[in-house]
Amino acid sequence: MADEKVVRFGILGCAAIARKLVRAIAISPTSSVYAVASRSIDKAKAFASANNLPPEVKTYGSYEQLLDDPCVDALYIPLPTSLHLEWALKAAYKRKHILLEKPPALCVEDLDIIIEACNNNGVQFMDGTMWMHHPRTPQMKAFLQNPDLFGDLKLVQSTFSYAGSDKFFEEDIRVKPDLDALGALGDVGWYCIRAILWANDYEMPQSVIAHPRPVLNEGGVVTCCGATFSWQDGRVATFNCSFHSPMTMDLSFLGSKGNMRLHDFVIPYEENTASFFSSANTGKHKEISSGWGPRSSEHIVTTKFPQETMMVQEFGKLVKGIQDSGGKPDSLWPSISRKTQILLNAVNESIQEGLVSVTL
Ligand SMILES: *[C@@H]1O[C@H](CO)[C@@H](O)[C@H](O)[C@H]1NC(C)=O
Ligand SMILES: *[C@@H]1O[C@H](CO)[C@@H](O)[C@H](O)[C@H]1NC(C)=O
Repeated sequence: MADEKVVRFGILGCAAIARKLVRAIAISPTSSVYAVASRSIDKAKAFASANNLPPEVKTYGSYEQLLDDPCVDALYIPLPTSLHLEWALKAAYKRKHILLEKPPALCVEDLDIIIEACNNNGVQFMDGTMWMHHPRTPQMKAFLQNPDLFGDLKLVQSTFSYAGSDKFFEEDIRVKPDLDALGALGDVGWYCIRAILWANDYEMPQSVIAHPRPVLNEGGVVTCCGATFSWQDGRVATFNCSFHSPMTMDLSFLGSKGNMRLHDFVIPYEENTASFFSSANTGKHKEISSGWGPRSSEHIVTTKFPQETMMVQEFGKLVKGIQDSGGKPDSLWPSISRKTQILLNAVNESIQEGLVSVTL
């Protein structure tokens, strides 16, 4: 396993959500799973065997032991959000590069402390927003930037929901105020907000207002909410995120000349091929408006690797750049995380303060 050419990952915490990234790291030719740590050695060993990790993968019964292993280059941290500040800081001090599950923090102040520690210790920070790394994403961006086909962006609408089971609402960390206090906003809303920022070239809106009737559980955790973002020049974006509706991952964009849609923006329906739909210069009615056209066209994008592996590779490239040539950590990914976090917290503030408009 001591291959010097790959980025050696340690997995800090054996949560079920770590399984996907462990597989993604193993698939990537430029990275390897070097060690996994849990708070008990039995749990770490059970995780390693459940995920078919080779016997040379180290297992640790404490997070500290993993941080002290000098062979670990980078950490994937899938811990509950309330533990991110503590463990991301400890990791940065030990000079481990950090791929942090989203939402990266409970508030932007905490995230700033994490990012500063990463910069001071020369380590890369990236959050785990995997759809950003799918090859479909730059292709969609090219359409949004096409002045003849799409024109100027006017509206973005995004929905991400799934239906939690009774067990989910009783036990899951995502509904617990002491673990993931941002609830649906931090889990599924994060992706919607990121998509809105992405479409708007990361230009922050002027104001944020939550929609009426958000749903909060008895612990005060949001389980369903929506919000509208507005920009000075009239651009608008809305999203709705929920644990109470069937699985939906919609994203739609309206421009002055065209539109674009997809229904699986966070997790594509299939791993190796994904598509999006676009129309340009539509509006040709048939006789007596009995139909219209042209229909939207489907653009199919194939990918050799799952989007999570693409993310691991992008992260690994930045890590290698720092390791091999002493470069500085890249600032793009932390800055995008930060903007997403600011908007997430603005939506929370609007909800908690009685649906006020929050000016940024
Ligand atoms: C979000 O969407 C769901 C399903 O359409 C709807 O019931 C709910 O009222 C919406 N919530 C907000 C706060 O926009
Ligand atoms: C949500 O907003 C309220 C009011 O602004 C604040 O007290 C609370 O800490 C925020 N919660 C989170 C998880 O950011």
